[in-house]
Amino acid sequence: MIKNKLVQLTEHCSWDTEEESLSLKSCYVKLTVSQKYLLGLLVQNLNRPVHSIDIFNEVNHLPSKEYNLKSVRNLVSSLRKNVPTLNIINVYGGYYMLRKDNSSPNVEFKDDLYEILDQSINPTIITNPNEFDNHIIYANKAFIELFEYTFEEVVGQNCRFLHRDDTEQLALDEIRNAIYEKKSITVNLHNYTHSGGLIYNEVAVSPIFDKKTGKIKYYLGVYKDVTTIQRLMQHFKERL
Ligand SMILES: Cc1cc2nc3c(=O)[nH]c(=O)nc-3n(C[C@H](O)[C@H](O)[C@H](O)COP(=O)(O)O)c2cc1C
Repeated sequence: MIKNKLVQLTEHCSWDTEEESLSLKSCYVKLTVSQKYLLGLLVQNLNRPVHSIDIFNEVNHLPSKEYNLKSVRNLVSSLRKNVPTLNIINVYGGYYMLRKDNSSPNVEFKDDLYEILDQSINPTIITNPNEFDNHIIYANKAFIELFEYTFEEVVGQNCRFLHRDDTEQLALDEIRNAIYEKKSITVNLHNYTHSGGLIYNEVAVSPIFDKKTGKIKYYLGVYKDVTTIQRLMQHFKERL
């Protein structure tokens, strides 16, 4: 028996098991009675192969008028045709399996992504290279705390405001080249807080591509505060 009345089959496809229709994005797909029984059996055995004989036994007793069951294969292909988004695969010849697509994160995880970024201890920003001057569109709490700015003060600015007049840094050329070559890079640079304090940062800059168009959609910047270790190294160098 299927315990839940509403079963999420794929990201955009849910099934109210008491209904003979599937909800697919914003439309409904009508199932035949045999298809409903077949789907119920496949859902009960999600990610596990079901033998053709078990499918036949499941539907054979049905006084179904709209579907004359000649073969299990025909029934499976009719369900596949009716709901192409379902991932029903043929295993070892005589078995069928409904595979839940684990490659796409579930809806709840996607909704939580913002919270995950915001509560991360790594200062993180996202910039938009398709808007004016590749400006910051998001900064997490750890970034705001590290640099002592408010969210409103950093959003809309290019990250260069962080280095102030400290322009003679090799790392800035390295970032410029990486942006030009559309590559990710990790650099060490000097940044400054709102009150003027020097921060030694290790910054990982990654272009985020739109998989469909291949164009860069965002840049992700993840910061590490390496001030303490840099100061210690300088201290030891001076004593040598
Ligand atoms: C995601 C990301 C993070 C960046 N972080 C910094 C940073 O922390 N400090 C900084 O001076 N520049 C940073 N930059 C680089 C500047 O935005 C800019 O590319 C750099 O100053 C060189 O370009 P410019 O000659 O236009 O100033 C970052 C760029 C990106 C895309």
